[in-house]
Amino acid sequence: MRFDKPATMNPIDQGKVVGQPIHRIDGPLKTTGRAVYAYEWHDPNTRYIYGYVVGSAIAKGRIASIDVSAAKQAPGVIAVVTSDDVGELKKGKYNTAKLFGGTEIQHYHQAIAVVVAETFEEARAAAALVKVDYAEQKGVFDLEAAKDTAVKPKDGEPDSAVGDFDAAFETAAVRFDQTYTTPDQSHAMMEPHASIAAWNGDELTVWTSSQMIDWWRTDLATTLGIDREKVHIMSPFIGGGFGSKLFLRADAVLAALAAREAKRPVKVALPRPFLINNTTHRPATIQRIRIGAERDGRITAIAHESWSGDLPGGGPEVAVQQTRLLYAGANRMTATRLATLDLPEGNAMRAPGEAPGMMALEIAIDEMAERLGLDPVEFRVINDTQVDPENPERPFSHRDLVGCLRTGAERFGWHDRNKQPGTRREGNWLVGMGVASAFRNNLLLPSGARVRLDREGIVTVETDMTDIGTGSYTIIAQTAAEMLGVPVDKVAVSLADSRFPVSSGSGGQFGGNCSTAGVYAACVKLREAVAQKLGFNSPDELTFAEGEVRAGDRRMPLAQAASDEPLAAEDRIEFGDLDKTHQQSTFGAHFVEVGVDVATGETRIRRMLATCGAGRILNPITARSQVIGAMTMGVGGALSEELVVDKERGFFVNHDLAAYEVPVHADIPHQEVIFLDETDPMSSPMKAKGIAELGLCGVAAAVANAIYNATGIRVREYPITLDKLI
Ligand code: MOS
Repeated sequence: MRFDKPATMNPIDQGKVVGQPIHRIDGPLKTTGRAVYAYEWHDPNTRYIYGYVVGSAIAKGRIASIDVSAAKQAPGVIAVVTSDDVGELKKGKYNTAKLFGGTEIQHYHQAIAVVVAETFEEARAAAALVKVDYAEQKGVFDLEAAKDTAVKPKDGEPDSAVGDFDAAFETAAVRFDQTYTTPDQSHAMMEPHASIAAWNGDELTVWTSSQMIDWWRTDLATTLGIDREKVHIMSPFIGGGFGSKLFLRADAVLAALAAREAKRPVKVALPRPFLINNTTHRPATIQRIRIGAERDGRITAIAHESWSGDLPGGGPEVAVQQTRLLYAGANRMTATRLATLDLPEGNAMRAPGEAPGMMALEIAIDEMAERLGLDPVEFRVINDTQVDPENPERPFSHRDLVGCLRTGAERFGWHDRNKQPGTRREGNWLVGMGVASAFRNNLLLPSGARVRLDREGIVTVETDMTDIGTGSYTIIAQTAAEMLGVPVDKVAVSLADSRFPVSSGSGGQFGGNCSTAGVYAACVKLREAVAQKLGFNSPDELTFAEGEVRAGDRRMPLAQAASDEPLAAEDRIEFGDLDKTHQQSTFGAHFVEVGVDVATGETRIRRMLATCGAGRILNPITARSQVIGAMTMGVGGALSEELVVDKERGFFVNHDLAAYEVPVHADIPHQEVIFLDETDPMSSPMKAKGIAELGLCGVAAAVANAIYNATGIRVREYPITLDKLI
């Protein structure tokens, strides 16, 4: 199904199932420990063996020599595999650095060997016996120091310019120019990367933890130099991703190589202290923002420049994206610059670009509002735009940022905020409120699904879509149930298997809308097959409801259409130009109240509210869950999260969850989420948009702005740790 005209009325609009607060259909499996994650997959007739990965102890240089003889003789060891043993590996499309390093070392903890043994402990013990001599080279690890070497990225984000920023800024009545920094961050998902690989002849099966089954399949086949048809990937349950599992990682490659060498199925997990430097992270940024405005608050000039770094061949953190679209202003420019760094690979983490971009932009907007003497909510409202500010011919498909701000202000009690910073004190706490807009683009990726109706009236959905904790199982079941007029418990959903039709996968908050739209497309075909089977010309003559098919006075069970054989249909949603003719984005507002201890500088979140305008909300329970999780992540970004760079040796020092601090329940006392009641017919037949990453974008700035309101101290370098407040 090609989606190239705005959606009209369709069965999803009934809202009998879609849009209802249905609990996760996979919830019981998860809460009773029966959901099988990658490393837990177990065939009782197989004795699994274990691979332990050895990582480079230098960030840049060469392996002068590697001696595995002691490791090979250690108890339980079956094989020690280095890149010398496996022939040439090709580089997949999505990895910047090699997943199995050879002579040349590209980053710290790049995998250089895998030790395979009967038990995990034996593999780990033997790994410590691998002796490596390095010829170390000097690397570049400090973004601040490398900033002036940064260049325009080759195939990355182009610079943008409209009007004459310099002239407009020069002559603006009120001007603002500040620089902000965001640190390297880790996804910190609960489940580390893990894979089990098994060969059957030349066919490879991998149980893994992946957000994008088809990308992994293709890249694993490419890396190993085998036919992708020979690779079978499964990832039915995933303990979080946040972007860390978008791209093939070393665990899957090394499990496959180790299993080939050992001729037995091998399990490889990346322990957290290893994965921090072995896998990807969100790169640090330096961002300069300049704003010029009239005295009445109208922005006349806005510029956002961002610097980040990555390994050779890597890409920038595009932190300027939102500034191209969020506020009006005739004269504007953005620029993205990329420095070469020899740190581990930078790559997508939840709302790549917009999340760190909003961390800077939304403080700048708060600062500018104060300079203009305007309420920060009003300043944002004054500068709302209903068209792409770089191209006024191009409207937003739907945009109610003003509604988000106004509704949020009302519900949060924004009017009680003291305008003068540092003036509200409760005991030892200085109390303040902050606001920020939320913004994240809505991306459209093709997505396929197969649906089948059997004689019991059970509808089975198969797609390689993943559920990374987001609720895909549930919203996909709701979609099929709505389309075929059956209750959710008559829908069986099978996900994340490369034998199923290729889906959008999970990432960039596109999975919810796109994967359900793919299921919609397949269900449209199944409805046609049902109509034909029952002797009607078209499904339009039929009503699908309560497990029945109805036409006038006639009623028959849906299952009747499958009485002799199951009825199956497959289709794929593909998107035309609607996201080019119309800018598709999601909007929101974050409100935060903090207390800052007058003596220690400790910040405590007191309450948070998010308002979101993101098209149809497919399930308010799973959507809310995404948003409160994102708000929590935003608090981490504001207050604690930072990968600390060893600028001499080139690695992240705090490589575990003891030292890379994310919020715990006790840090987050009260969260509320309000969804504006909207649909977006441009986004898909579902009229839904992304929600998961919107919930993150802006949160950290709202916290920063609340801290400023509480204390009068403006911190422009994240995270806002207590040392910056005393
Ligand atoms: Mo997304 S960058 O896969 O959370």
